[in-house]
Amino acid sequence: MSQDQDIHALSSSNPLKFAYWVPNVSGGLVVSTIAQRTDWSLEYNQRLAQVAERAGFDYALSQIRFTAGYGAEHQHESVSFSQALLHATTRLKVLAAILPGPWSPAVVAKQIATIDHISQGRIGINVVSGWFKGEFQAIGEPWLEHDERYRRSEEFIRALKGIWTQDEFTFKGDFYRFNRYTLSPKPVQRPHPEIFQGGSSRAARDMAARVSDWYLTNGNTPEGVKQQIDDIRAKAAETGHYVRIGINAFVIARDTEEEARAVLKDIIDHAHVEAVHAFGEAARQAGRSSPEGEGNWAKSTFEDLVQYNDGFRTNLIGTPRQVAERIVALKAVGVDLILAGFLHFIEEVEYFGQKVLPLVRELELEADRKQQQQQQHAGGNPAGAAREPAEAVAA
Ligand SMILES: Cc1cc2nc3c(=O)[nH]c(=O)nc-3n(C[C@H](O)[C@H](O)[C@H](O)COP(=O)(O)O)c2cc1C
Repeated sequence: MSQDQDIHALSSSNPLKFAYWVPNVSGGLVVSTIAQRTDWSLEYNQRLAQVAERAGFDYALSQIRFTAGYGAEHQHESVSFSQALLHATTRLKVLAAILPGPWSPAVVAKQIATIDHISQGRIGINVVSGWFKGEFQAIGEPWLEHDERYRRSEEFIRALKGIWTQDEFTFKGDFYRFNRYTLSPKPVQRPHPEIFQGGSSRAARDMAARVSDWYLTNGNTPEGVKQQIDDIRAKAAETGHYVRIGINAFVIARDTEEEARAVLKDIIDHAHVEAVHAFGEAARQAGRSSPEGEGNWAKSTFEDLVQYNDGFRTNLIGTPRQVAERIVALKAVGVDLILAGFLHFIEEVEYFGQKVLPLVRELELEADRKQQQQQQHAGGNPAGAAREPAEAVAA
């Protein structure tokens, strides 16, 4: 049996999804001078995408950066790069990062519909609302204050959904307007390509609860992310909306815990101190600038910031078993997807597929069985029966 079939055969009825960060900007995912066998080139990334889909990853998440700043000296654009990854793969879904402001919903709706046809339904988007003021200034885009950025993103998503699902779409918003617009062809995926978003703040959560298919957040503990999940799902339930949740993690899986911890120490010992402080200042400003002060990075320490999205905090650092157990603990509090970053992407994605994923699938099955037994004991429904929402996400 091939590795793919093996993983599939072991899947639970509600298997966790796995995504990896596409290193389409230079410097990898840590603000550190440690040597990395990760490359931002197209050739490396196409090979990585092929390895990732064979390893059992469901999604690849691209990044959008218009300028350098605290590393990321070179940045490939997300939509065109995503398309190149789709060309190199057959099953992987690729998520193009989209920044309202530089992009308009009319252009994105058209681009993504076309890519959906070319890729036979494998494109999705990640709507990012912007945190890097210097970048907006550099490209001459007005910098809206925090909650206004989310108000614009929400209109952006509502407009996209309207264009993708309706004919003669009419919309009168504060940021966007459409007059009896009919997009043709519509995307292949129904009702539309999946819409992810990033963030942690009140505004980010509220937007997720109203319009997004997926909410992606910074690294956190199971308790920390549970608070966010409960909060978002309670709000979403008020309007019958269902949001799936993904959490960032920088994965360091090694044969022994000592090896894994030593790699983390090495990354932090080689932190590019000046760049981390500069990133921390910009990021914290972005996190603090949300009125309630709970945005991404609002509470990040120096060590946290060495990984752009607090990925060490999720603690997927240790042996394959330790990592798998922690992943399943995240599922138990409502996480649907692990967004993974790695130091040496290709070889670590391969290792993750061989050593960690099969254990996760086993532990998921075990958890399903336990839940079933408990429910039978209590006379309830079988496990998983009540979990899926009536409102379906695109296939
Ligand atoms: C998983 C994830 C991916 C993100 N990708 C990008 C990106 O590619 N480009 C970008 O400018 N911002 C990106 N962001 C930043 C968010 O869009 C947002 O600006 C940031 O999380 C601050 O949000 P908050 O203040 O609402 O918490 C990402 C955030 C997360 C959590």
